[in-house]
Amino acid sequence: MSHISALTAWLILAAEVGAVFIILTTAHDPLTVNVGFSVLAGITTWSAIPALSAIFIKAGLKGMDLSKKSKQILPESMGMVAGLIYLVTMFVFIPFPFMRWFTASRDGDPQELTQLTFPNLKLAEILSALLSIQSMVFLGFADDVLDIRWRFKMPLPAIASIPLLMVYWVNSGVTYIVVPIPLRPILGQLINLGALYYVYMALVAIFCTHSINIMAGINGVEVGQSLVIACSIAFNDMLFLHSSTSNAPAFETHLFSLYFIMPFIGVSVALLIHNWYPSKVFIGDTYCYFAGMTFAVVGILAHYSKTLLLFFLPQIFNFLLSSPQLFRLVPCPRHRVPRYNRGTNLMEPSRVVLDQDGLDEDMAWRSAHPALHSNDHGKQMQHRNGMHGRLASSALLPPTSTDAAADASLTPPSPSFLGRPSSPTPSKSRYTPMLNPHLTRPGWYCIKILETLGLTEVRYDSRTGQRPLEITNLTILNVILLKAGPLSERNLTISVMLVQLVCSLLAFFIRYRLVTFVYDVVS
Ligand code: UD1
Ligand code: MG
Repeated sequence: MSHISALTAWLILAAEVGAVFIILTTAHDPLTVNVGFSVLAGITTWSAIPALSAIFIKAGLKGMDLSKKSKQILPESMGMVAGLIYLVTMFVFIPFPFMRWFTASRDGDPQELTQLTFPNLKLAEILSALLSIQSMVFLGFADDVLDIRWRFKMPLPAIASIPLLMVYWVNSGVTYIVVPIPLRPILGQLINLGALYYVYMALVAIFCTHSINIMAGINGVEVGQSLVIACSIAFNDMLFLHSSTSNAPAFETHLFSLYFIMPFIGVSVALLIHNWYPSKVFIGDTYCYFAGMTFAVVGILAHYSKTLLLFFLPQIFNFLLSSPQLFRLVPCPRHRVPRYNRGTNLMEPSRVVLDQDGLDEDMAWRSAHPALHSNDHGKQMQHRNGMHGRLASSALLPPTSTDAAADASLTPPSPSFLGRPSSPTPSKSRYTPMLNPHLTRPGWYCIKILETLGLTEVRYDSRTGQRPLEITNLTILNVILLKAGPLSERNLTISVMLVQLVCSLLAFFIRYRLVTFVYDVVS
């Protein structure tokens, strides 16, 4: 074992020496220096995480791995290590894009070169971007420690993006959008959104940070999706840099984007190695906020927020799907992660109970009438034990004559469900979601629509087939499991990364092919 760690140590040292050599010999080329720094940042993160794990646990920064047989306690908030090393790397990198001005001042008139032509706004862009990212790392850590309520933490990314938006205003201040060709006869070629454009950018910052945090909860999924997005951004930048000359207007902005994204990829790869199934560490909200803000920063300052949102297609889908729960139209439990089945060692869709009384009555009635549901008895037992089993298939079917006959022998439903004493058989027409205190009428319609689209599975009261008792949680992870069947935790993460990859390919297709049908200039 010791010779392996000695070999690893030598390999790390060699890689570090190589990276430093690249940095020293190519100091005039900021992009190569940036790649060298990214490798260094990755290696440092990779070796720092195990060294700091025990310290984090001792400080109370720990969480339970929910999807394992043995409920292991792992260090939480390791995104802090990745975020800090990223920030230090970027701070050290700051002089390199300006090296031309430093070396020129040795030969030319230093007064003129440093004071008159130095690109102050470029420096301000980098500093404001780092300030915004740093604020989100700090706020993410505060969330990990204090578990801040959603209503308070929701607007935080918009506040953290103010330095960035200020520099955007001073620097270019472009607030117009190019209208798609089909709409130009009505709206004209350009629309100036004015202040609304800043609201839009603040919303992009909010969306990017929180959308990664709600597509979370299984080993490797947060870092995995972020890595695919980051690689897509880097690939998009490289495509642009290769296809245009250095004096093209967007050349500098894409270079800027690469400077920020390469070290991010470096620290994320290192973090993923430790966070991959079976995880040794959790990344915490710190990493989700750090990743989201880094993406928002490059999207806003490099002027491609629309392309960025295309890379976020799975997160947009997950957010729209989640919104009935996020906006409390439907109950939202603390954890919506898929449920781990100890027996099979596989992940299954997790469920949220809409009507506990109804569920208890349904269980009692089903056990009183085992003959009517003999096919799914095993499933029900599983359900009763964990409240999370696969749905009883009969619950999804319209009531049959057998059910109707059985209804006659029902125990009366609890008054808390119907709101008043009732007849023993709850009739279909009587059901109204308003009478369930946990399910609003809009929530009930959302469930109906999502069920029709196959995005959630609803368990109904088996006596009437009308009263929704529980649904699968509204997340993309659960939808994947509904479509693909139970998967291991590792395969579920790989599936999410594949979905992310396919969406990135679709985004490139839209950005570079379909766009020519709606825009005359690829912008
Ligand atoms: C968000 C989600 C929540 C999800 C949680 C998982 C919403 C509204 N909130 O909440 O549904 O359950 O993320 O991160 O969608 N954990 C694991 N395995 C992992 C990663 C995390 O078991 O691979 C568990 C650990 O117990 C860890 C906890 O999740 O301590 C972290 O949850 P936290 O980030 O605090 O949850 P939220 O971001 O509030
Ligand atoms: Mg989280």
